Amino acid sequence: MILPQGWTLIKKDETASTNADAKNLPSGSDRTAVVADAQTGGRGRLGRPWVSPAGNLYVSICLEKIPLARAGMYSFLTAVSLAEAMERLCPDIGVQCKWPNDLLVGGKKISGILLETDGADRLVAGVGVNIVSFPETGMLYRATSLRNEGYAVTRDQMLESFLRSFAQRDTELKSNGSARLLDAWKEKAYGIGGPVTVNLPNRKMRGTFYGLDKDGCLLLNKDGEIVKITAGDVFFGDQE
Ligand code: BTN
Repeated sequence: MILPQGWTLIKKDETASTNADAKNLPSGSDRTAVVADAQTGGRGRLGRPWVSPAGNLYVSICLEKIPLARAGMYSFLTAVSLAEAMERLCPDIGVQCKWPNDLLVGGKKISGILLETDGADRLVAGVGVNIVSFPETGMLYRATSLRNEGYAVTRDQMLESFLRSFAQRDTELKSNGSARLLDAWKEKAYGIGGPVTVNLPNRKMRGTFYGLDKDGCLLLNKDGEIVKITAGDVFFGDQE
């Protein structure tokens, strides 16, 4: 496995959660990735579990000294890097980025991203990619895997390709800002111009997906009024 310069990889057979492991690394672990063959307590967004049998990719990247103001950009950076890795390894896969940070193939979820901070200046970007299997029930969204889409890619090929893109995009973000990153995300965006339902904590809001603002917030066109959405689950089209 070829790692980007300055990066470290810790490999585990099985662990509870690579995100928890990356959070607990000693200080000075910037650009360290933790990968596990399987997880027994994989975590998803909004406190949901992430079922993690062997064969898929479970990796978490530890980044240090990330200013809080820039932390949100890493959901786009992670999604774009994963999409680029898939496009390199899986010709014509047609992967799309769904706000804020899922990846879809044919409208089905193939990857999830969980960003966490340690309350200080450490950011952990955790990624699950369905390589050989996907949960068939109990999901809010329909899911798929690379194998199910007809691609024979190994876990390590995906990991190497992902880290390569991540390191390049990170360097670009730090030296040139977020404009190119958000443009790359928008090029692959799922559902721009289409109907969107946002499940906010206490209500639903319907409109069309207008775009992103410069901070990556979703802009919803609600009867001609542009509303900025910062959190919540987003459903596109007929999905509820
Ligand atoms: C989601 O879509 O809800 C996010 C899923 C994130 C899962 C990954 S797997 C590697 C890392 N470790 C975890 O416990 N979660 C993330």
